[in-house]
Amino acid sequence: MRGPRVRWYLGAAVLLAPLLVLVPASAPAQQSAYAWSLPPGFPEPRVPADNPMSAVKVELGRHLFYDTRLSSDGTFSCATCHQQARAFADDKGRGIGVTGAAHPRGPMSLANVAYAVVLTWANPTMRRLEDQALVPMFGDDPIELGLRSDDPSLLAKLRDEPRYQRLFPEAFPGVREPVAVANVTRAIASFERTLLSGRSPYDRYRTTLDDKAIPLAAHRGQDLFFSDRVGCFNCHAGFNFTQPVDFVGRASVEIAFHNTGLYNVDGRGAYPEPNTGVYAVTGDPADMGRFKAPTLRNIAVTAPYMHDGSLRTLDDVLSHYQAGGRTIGLGPQRGNGSRNPLKSRFLTGFTLTPEERDDLLAFLDSLTDQSFLTDPRFANPWPTH
Ligand code: HEC
Ligand code: HEC
Repeated sequence: MRGPRVRWYLGAAVLLAPLLVLVPASAPAQQSAYAWSLPPGFPEPRVPADNPMSAVKVELGRHLFYDTRLSSDGTFSCATCHQQARAFADDKGRGIGVTGAAHPRGPMSLANVAYAVVLTWANPTMRRLEDQALVPMFGDDPIELGLRSDDPSLLAKLRDEPRYQRLFPEAFPGVREPVAVANVTRAIASFERTLLSGRSPYDRYRTTLDDKAIPLAAHRGQDLFFSDRVGCFNCHAGFNFTQPVDFVGRASVEIAFHNTGLYNVDGRGAYPEPNTGVYAVTGDPADMGRFKAPTLRNIAVTAPYMHDGSLRTLDDVLSHYQAGGRTIGLGPQRGNGSRNPLKSRFLTGFTLTPEERDDLLAFLDSLTDQSFLTDPRFANPWPTH
């Protein structure tokens, strides 16, 4: 048993080959006055100095997150694509925006997004939740909520709402005009930072060392997950099964994106447009197909999988890794991903017996945190008719 437990902690420190940048800690360790409700063993999230946490700001952010006034036709909110029962992802492989047009990529789980250093699937420059919220609100390619930044009617509508007439001034005291776009995104970001998930059966086992908190199959699956042969922990590392993560007191952060051999459309490693990964941002050919390794917490409720939802089940995901990359035999996306010359050196492929496959699935299942999926503090605060 010693091996896997030790690796749990080492995982985050393992140096990863692709795109590695050392970022100095942005602020000295500083405890905030905000009463976090941290899951056992979780570190305190780092919060930007210009947007300190407060209970009333979080409450305002929750209202805005669920408010359909934040869309062009009043039918959509953040929660349309980020649903609590699905760990704040949804069941569509690609997001569908307010105009019905599909986003090229799938909505991501917001569980523990407070610890994320880079946001979205493959954008090394997207660092702050406050900035990210502007993209779904005002972005026009793709259209998500379909708002226009030059249209004053959004703020007028928010000012008309009695709940906001109390919440905005309380959340932003001493400000002459608290109902402003910058405060909308600050409040939403504060709410997002409270979406902490760490009370799954696996966490119970890990923090209490009660072996019976998870089934025997999940114990065996854990050993496989953290084994060198299967190697999942190399990228889905640390307490959040992702990386990089940042938190109060962390000295430095390594940023890494990986090509997992999901595609190889030209035999030289290309991914289909427009989902070329970090390459789409940097233009560096070595970044082709590199994506963030998302958290695996609550992964059993966020199907379908990968940046474009192209793997339907966790079983399909295991087949992809087992082959060391996916082979597509027909159509415009055909190609042998296991021969992708840009894929991570960790994607070597492996064999699994049917029992071992079931064990890995049982382990992934043990990461589902039911209390997070049903916590009333994260639910829609508006009356529903
Ligand atoms: C139309 C569906 C849709 C709506 C509406 C939507 N999102 Fe998203 N969200 C997505 C998709 C798709 C991604 C992945 C984007 C990418 O990789 O470019 C995403 C990614 C994110 C991420 C990054 C998570 C991570 O782990 O890196 C955050 C944070 C986020 N959305 C917050 C919001 C907020 C806040 C709102 C409301 C203001 C919102 N979203 C509205 C579809 C949506
Ligand atoms: C080389 C790093 C790396 C390794 C090793 C790795 N993953 Fe991943 N994983 C990623 C990246 C990157 C993505 C997103 C890829 C994409 O969308 O193109 C991902 C996506 C996933 C997803 C889909 C997540 C979602 O929200 O859609 C699951 C599930 C998953 N991995 C499980 C595993 C398991 C199980 C293993 C071990 C068998 C493993 N991974 C090994 C990097 C890795």
